[in-house]
Amino acid sequence: MTGCCNSRGCEWFFSARFARRVTQRYRKRGLDKPSRRIVEFLEARGVQGATVLEIGGGVGEIQLELLKRGAARTINLELSPAYDEQAAELAREAGVADRVDRRLHDIAVDPDGVEGADVVVLNRVVCCYPDYERLLGAAADHADRLLVFSHPPGNLLWRSIAAAQNLAFRVMRQEFRSFAHPPAAMLAVLEHHGLRRTFTRRGLPFRVAGLERDRVS
Ligand SMILES: C[S@@+](CC[C@H](N)C(=O)[O-])C[C@H]1O[C@@H](n2cnc3c(N)ncnc32)[C@H](O)[C@@H]1O
Repeated sequence: MTGCCNSRGCEWFFSARFARRVTQRYRKRGLDKPSRRIVEFLEARGVQGATVLEIGGGVGEIQLELLKRGAARTINLELSPAYDEQAAELAREAGVADRVDRRLHDIAVDPDGVEGADVVVLNRVVCCYPDYERLLGAAADHADRLLVFSHPPGNLLWRSIAAAQNLAFRVMRQEFRSFAHPPAAMLAVLEHHGLRRTFTRRGLPFRVAGLERDRVS
């Protein structure tokens, strides 16, 4: 992790074992549903030659799929280093290792430490981070053209699940927490940073929202 940043327990929860499981599933079945929807949104808007910044991209499956569809290069920001071995193997197998850059970096804490990109992706990340305003605000400021993110619903059921998980983490004396941020407030942050929602897919439990930056003509 770069000097500025705390992994907030992600290093413990998103371990090498977790990364191996995700990699096996991707090799066997390809992208899961929320990830497919993210790629579907981006492919429809065009990713040819695009630069992609994925925040909390895990082993980087979405990035691989976007590179296969013509994206120029990708940067992955993570709080957990445990994915790196599997990520490197997948990128090598796909023949795109020279177009993938991986960094341990918290963009919410150090937004100036990373360059902008045409496309910004956050899949199942906001629910692992306490300050959605800083995270999404920084993500939006780095998105020149498109931003797509998935999130759980902010309803009572999900809030209760998150509270029960957090109680268990507390008992285990682990720092990691999960969050049920209000979806409308998250979208309002992105809109405040100049993005407009043009795509929504409701899934269980993860919903996908795609946003575009209005071009000044
Ligand atoms: C539930 S995992 C999702 C991984 C992958 N996106 C997926 O959907 O399979 C959430 C990931 O977000 C990362 N994460 C959370 N907050 C982050 C931040 N501020 N910057 C970078 N990564 C972050 C965690 O380390 C974790 O790997």
